Amino acid sequence: MPSQEQWQLSGSAPELYERYAARYMLGPWAPGLVAQAHLKPGERVLDLACGTGLIARLVAPAVGVTGRVTGLDLNAGMLAVARALPAPPGAPITWVQGSALAMGFPDASFEVVLCQQGLQFFPDRPAAVREMHRVLVPGGRVALSVWSGVSPYHAAVGEALRQHVGAGAAASFSASRVVPDAGELRRLVVEAGFRDVAIEPCVMNVRLPAVEGFVLSHLAATPVASAVAAVDSRARAALAEHVGRALRGYVDGDGLTLPDEANVVTALA
Ligand SMILES: C[S@@+](CC[C@H](N)C(=O)[O-])C[C@H]1O[C@@H](n2cnc3c(N)ncnc32)[C@H](O)[C@@H]1O
Repeated sequence: MPSQEQWQLSGSAPELYERYAARYMLGPWAPGLVAQAHLKPGERVLDLACGTGLIARLVAPAVGVTGRVTGLDLNAGMLAVARALPAPPGAPITWVQGSALAMGFPDASFEVVLCQQGLQFFPDRPAAVREMHRVLVPGGRVALSVWSGVSPYHAAVGEALRQHVGAGAAASFSASRVVPDAGELRRLVVEAGFRDVAIEPCVMNVRLPAVEGFVLSHLAATPVASAVAAVDSRARAALAEHVGRALRGYVDGDGLTLPDEANVVTALA
């Protein structure tokens, strides 16, 4: 299986992921996903494909000291950053390295499974959704999100990568946006045994810093980091200029304001 399929980072990329991708791209969506779970004190919650633990750290205060939070991710570097960040108040968080396809938890281990922007990277999505169902108690809740379109930022960066780095890097970068649509999401969740399935399309304006400075830092936090580092500095500068030009219409003060879209799926086990 190609490594970009599972969105794997190496070297310093997980630290940069926390600083750039988690802060600016994923962070604004996290409170909305957590709110969909209607968490109660004392619940056991799994943050699946937790990355650097954005969702898990929001969940810990919501379920309180009697709750339990587990973050599971395939990537050791992401988990190392998660472990190094200050623990929030509330439930203790356990970080576990493992695959969404075979989680290793006993049946009925959690009241809630949350998964923000992970499903599209799982090489066997039906198996992963069946695992989510298996580890939930009967009546347990799942809330997961996947992007529902290619944002102007992703379109501009994908094209700039194609022109200045190569088609492989462009395809790898764009993999996060190759997602199941609403119909496929519903089918996946229903076929895994979930009921009361709801799919909510969500749109948000996301704020980014001045993009010519931001884009290369952001790319260093993605699976294309080494491909971008391998081209010469003129190509990197041209890439940043290309993105700046393409997104001129979104400049707002000292940064950019851009629309983005995601589908949020909720269901009961
Ligand atoms: C875009 S990041 C999202 C991280 C986090 N949920 C967030 O909101 O910041 C995708 C994550 O999925 C993880 N991942 C990819 N394939 C996986 C698998 N098969 N099992 C577990 N985690 C996986 C990657 O290691 C990465 O941390």
